Amino acid sequence: MNATSLLSDRALGMDSSGIRRVFELGATLDKPINLSIGQPDFPVPDALKNAAIEAVATDLNGYSLNQGLPDLVVRTTEYLQHDVGWTCGPPKDADSPTVLITAGTSGALVLAYMSLLDAGDEIIIPDPYFVSYPELATMCGAEAVRCETYPDFKMTAERVAPLITERTKAVLYCSPSNPAGVALSEQECAELLELCRSRGVLLIADEIYDEFAFADARTQAAVGDAGDLRCPSPARLPGSEDTVLLIRGFGKTYGCTGWRLGYCAGPASVVNAMIKIQQYTFVCAPTPLQAGVLAAFDTDMGPTVQAYAQRRDMICETLGEVTEVARPDGAFYAFVKVPERLGMTGTRFFERCVEENVLVIPGGVFSERDTHIRLSYATDPARLAEGLEIIGRLMSD
Ligand SMILES: Cc1ncc(COP(=O)(O)O)c(C=O)c1O
Repeated sequence: MNATSLLSDRALGMDSSGIRRVFELGATLDKPINLSIGQPDFPVPDALKNAAIEAVATDLNGYSLNQGLPDLVVRTTEYLQHDVGWTCGPPKDADSPTVLITAGTSGALVLAYMSLLDAGDEIIIPDPYFVSYPELATMCGAEAVRCETYPDFKMTAERVAPLITERTKAVLYCSPSNPAGVALSEQECAELLELCRSRGVLLIADEIYDEFAFADARTQAAVGDAGDLRCPSPARLPGSEDTVLLIRGFGKTYGCTGWRLGYCAGPASVVNAMIKIQQYTFVCAPTPLQAGVLAAFDTDMGPTVQAYAQRRDMICETLGEVTEVARPDGAFYAFVKVPERLGMTGTRFFERCVEENVLVIPGGVFSERDTHIRLSYATDPARLAEGLEIIGRLMSD
């Protein structure tokens, strides 16, 4: 039997060749300086580990409700009240936003796409984008319309407005972003929210890196404690809960990407549809690990984020002298331009790096363009310095 002939258009339409090539080449290297990794290099805080261990030991190992472990739903609801000022209610209450605990941020994205997009519908995504954004649209038979954000990587209302059509269901943006680490300002959040509201489309805010925003990108939060400095979010603007689907995750912030935990909140009609689809797909997020991340809300990652800001500075200082680097506001990536005078694509430059035992990701993996590379600085600072020295030299040649 030729099993390939059985594959769906959905599966055939998805392309993982770019990132696979990076892994394949990476596997051929001996102890490379690995600046390609998209997960933090610190251990999960003990409070989370202990809470998860206790949950397993006390037999909290069955399914949770589709919406999530009740304690975690309540804690997330309280947190959102404090952080963005939303009063989330039970899933059946159509007038208030609702919380859903998901299998990673990816789980929330899958459910959101499946809840919103029919064949032929459009979702506007940034370019460069997180790799799943276009592929999930393909999975739904929908179209991901790319919003060019070069060279500053800001998905502004001005750039999005001309792309909205009668087929547009949602605008998806990420702040701080992957692959550039750039965040929108309060003003830019407000303009994007107003655009989406006026055009009747949902604004999906992927804020997986919200806790990983550096001090200089934080502003006084409109709600929450006085003196609480946060990464700007459209969710914090008055009346946003009928237009914003907020998606966040625990994996990147607390170093537990393998636990597969995230959450989302937004209009009850949309979140209810997501809960329904969760019921027939993921069923629920991993139950004992939901108990584990309950401890996250009382865990301060400030010192870790500050250490990452120093690595960000190291990148901007070293490579800023030889090329363009949009200064990252958060996350742990920098999207670095391959100097035009080298006459190389991002992929060609990536190959040059591999020859020097340095692993990065070519920008074409995240974009229609292949002019940049993505560096992850979730790596030991001494190794990072070595890698930057080599990349700087290759860029100066
Ligand atoms: C912007 C963005 N959104 C979502 C995800 C998915 O994260 P998770 O591991 O929580 O599914 C990632 C992971 O790299 C990401 O960078």
